[in-house]
Amino acid sequence: RRVEADRLARINEVACDFYHQILLESPEGGAARRYLRDRGYDGEIARRFRLGFAPERWEALAGHLAAKGFDPALGRQLGLIRPGKEGRSDYDLFRKRLLFPILDLAGRVTAFGGRVLDDSLPKYMNSPESPIYHKGRVLFGLCEAREGMRQRREGIVVEGYFDQMALYRAGFTNAVATCGTALTVEHARLLKRYAERLLLLFDQDSAGRKATFRAMEVLLAEGIPASVVALEPGEDPDSFLRLHGVDDFSRRLEAARPVLEVYMETVLAEHGASIEGTTRAVDEILARLRLIPGEIERSLYLRALAARTGIAEDLIRRQAEKGGPANRP
Ligand code: UTP
Ligand code: MN
Ligand code: MN
Ligand code: MN
Ligand code: MN
Repeated sequence: RRVEADRLARINEVACDFYHQILLESPEGGAARRYLRDRGYDGEIARRFRLGFAPERWEALAGHLAAKGFDPALGRQLGLIRPGKEGRSDYDLFRKRLLFPILDLAGRVTAFGGRVLDDSLPKYMNSPESPIYHKGRVLFGLCEAREGMRQRREGIVVEGYFDQMALYRAGFTNAVATCGTALTVEHARLLKRYAERLLLLFDQDSAGRKATFRAMEVLLAEGIPASVVALEPGEDPDSFLRLHGVDDFSRRLEAARPVLEVYMETVLAEHGASIEGTTRAVDEILARLRLIPGEIERSLYLRALAARTGIAEDLIRRQAEKGGPANRP
């Protein structure tokens, strides 16, 4: 097992170097270099993150690995090489994409994410799961960010590769990206090793809002305090930093609010002020507040909910202890 994992990691390493050289030096990488420059990222960032470019050819990596004498089965196991059908030769998974290597905590390449340079679809593609890559257990940027998280005692969680790089470049070296997947319990436990609290900084759209409140449930259960950063509607950290600059961004970070407060406000507003709406909103909120392991903290939130809704505090408390409508006879 261990030996197999090492051999797979070695292939990813060779692929990473191959793609990286193409991005930095080859004429084939020209369009990708321009793309990065147009988005405001220079060679230093490309080298820091070992970014790469997969050329348009069908067998660029397949040929490179074969020439170096690697077992083609390993490339296929990683999903980097796709088996050709009906006697045709193997071909590359990534073609004409900017590549982001995803590192494990030892700094080894476990997988890649790849972005198109135009607006064709799918915008991003990832290495499939493999013996060395489980997307629910890896966070993009964690290897670089854990030292920053330790120092600041705080981690920032964003959605995308570019968001993580944008923060890094702006001096916020404590950010990781979930890469579009939901934050998992394993992610939360990884983050807990390095950070005492988290700032959730997902895209300012409905998908990002949903992701924020889903992450909240995981973090509540793990006992990790989290706050939400609000940017302009429609923006993500990468676009916000480009448009508004670092000072404005820092002010937004300072104005972060506890995720549960934002959640209560959002749910109450969504359901409206009617008796029916408020009743349903309170049920929904109590289901989340019951997840808080700390009694003191739970108690403070119950008091806040009572204050916000004008419902008597002891009634809220009794309702919270009941275990919710689902458990009622
Ligand atoms: P977004 O759609 O918000 O992408 O997805 P982005 O990072 O802002 O993209 P840019 O700025 O246009 O380059 C957030 C993250 O979700 C994952 C990627 O990790 C992406 O960075 N994703 C997104 C996918 O895996 N596949 C997709 O098709 C789209
Ligand atoms: Mn998004
Ligand atoms: Mn999207
Ligand atoms: Mn985005
Ligand atoms: Mn973006």
